[in-house]
Amino acid sequence: MTKARAADIDDLRSRFAAHGQEHVFAFWDELDAGSRTALGSQAARIAEELGDLILARDKALGQTDDERGPAIEPVDAIELPRDGGDSTRFEAARARGEAMLADGRVAAFVVAGGQGTRLGFDAPKGAYPVGPVTDRSLFAIQAQKIRGLIRRLGRPVPWYVMTSEATDAETRALFEAENHFGLSENDVWIFPQAMVPAFDFAGRLILEAPHRIFESPDGHGGSLTALAASGALDDMERRGIDTIFYYQVDNPLVRIGDPVYLGFHDERSAEMSCKVVRKIDPMEKVGIVARVDGDVGIVEYTELDDERRFARNEAGELLYWAGNLAIHVLNTGFVRRVSERAFELLPFHASAKKIPCIDAEARLATPEEPNGVKLERFVFDALASAKQVCVLEASAKDEFSPIKNATGNDSPDSCRQDLTAQYRRWLESAGTEVAADIQQIEIDHSIIDGPEDAAKAAFRNVAEAGDVIRVASGMGQ
Ligand code: UTP
Repeated sequence: MTKARAADIDDLRSRFAAHGQEHVFAFWDELDAGSRTALGSQAARIAEELGDLILARDKALGQTDDERGPAIEPVDAIELPRDGGDSTRFEAARARGEAMLADGRVAAFVVAGGQGTRLGFDAPKGAYPVGPVTDRSLFAIQAQKIRGLIRRLGRPVPWYVMTSEATDAETRALFEAENHFGLSENDVWIFPQAMVPAFDFAGRLILEAPHRIFESPDGHGGSLTALAASGALDDMERRGIDTIFYYQVDNPLVRIGDPVYLGFHDERSAEMSCKVVRKIDPMEKVGIVARVDGDVGIVEYTELDDERRFARNEAGELLYWAGNLAIHVLNTGFVRRVSERAFELLPFHASAKKIPCIDAEARLATPEEPNGVKLERFVFDALASAKQVCVLEASAKDEFSPIKNATGNDSPDSCRQDLTAQYRRWLESAGTEVAADIQQIEIDHSIIDGPEDAAKAAFRNVAEAGDVIRVASGMGQ
């Protein structure tokens, strides 16, 4: 090791020691050169934000002690026209959104850096084979939707894909192997989010190897800082994009670039918008969009007290009905502003987890009980910083069926059923005959991306559609 590097490591050690974290160098003397370089560069990166992270950790842990709780009120939302009610303003919003798309102002942005622990799939969730007939992956279905948009617009719509250390290499390999799913390589921008260290219950960083501090992806809220840090925001601005359509990788029903949503966002001069679905059952486990201490925010299912959970208006509808879909529209300028003050505007939240760690003899173990906290940022925390927020109601059956769990609700099975049900509705409304014994349907979104396209295609039956509509009888996967 050169003198300069020895000095660097001494400096690093003292910066960690200042925060009571010098133990991360406990094995330094035993490390070979490669491991020293690895730990040295990881520690140097973490040191940049260590003070802020420790404050954020303390704030996150302190939050659970706050018994006063925030003041919560229902939020105003644009509700779907009901009972054949007035849809003129929806048509005006659609026209406005279509103009934004045609002018090249919009990018699609998927967050795909999560670890998918509940699903337990050993590849990135975006690679999950969900196509009811073809086993097409989540990414492949989303790419079809973007190709459908491009076909309608006659111009490219760039797709930004956020990964994390957990998903980056495999996601890139998949996009390469699949030829970017038929999209131009120039219009697909893959970038990783940041990692953030975890802390044990004594507030100490955790070593998962003698030369490695344990870190995990910094949450979907990290997407806003990652957009800025990766240069994706600069790239958007170079292309004349000022509006980002944000969605999560695990929902194949998402209407990417929905013009109605974009149009309402723009008309309301919103900086960030929220799509919501009407919660019918008070026990449904969904975060609620509400006013929290005056600002629009999300109240987690567990944070809603029973009084509010069951509260109804005179019409007998739930007062806190606006279930968050995690589909947002954001202005690029707003993302930049929030990312520049991330420690203030995007707080970290702590959750207790079982974190693999080594003992004094460098033996690795994953504990049976939680031994520390992982820190995560939530994208919806940015809502509170938006000067205007537009909240728009959508229909769950048309737009939301996430894959979260291996079985049961929000699982691959329920999602495939929801996809088939949606395709069946499109075909029925278009008068396309589907044989009674058909159990699975899959439609190529690049050709037919909604009931209007199905009506235009006007296939009399499935056979006429060739590869555009695939069907299978029997239970399939
Ligand atoms: P979830 O919070 O549902 O996490 O993420 P997950 O990784 O899919 O699954 P679990 O909780 O480990 O079982 C919602 C969306 O946010 C993304 C996920 O990829 C998913 O699209 N996400 C989550 C990130 O991109 N980065 C993160 O750090 C966390």
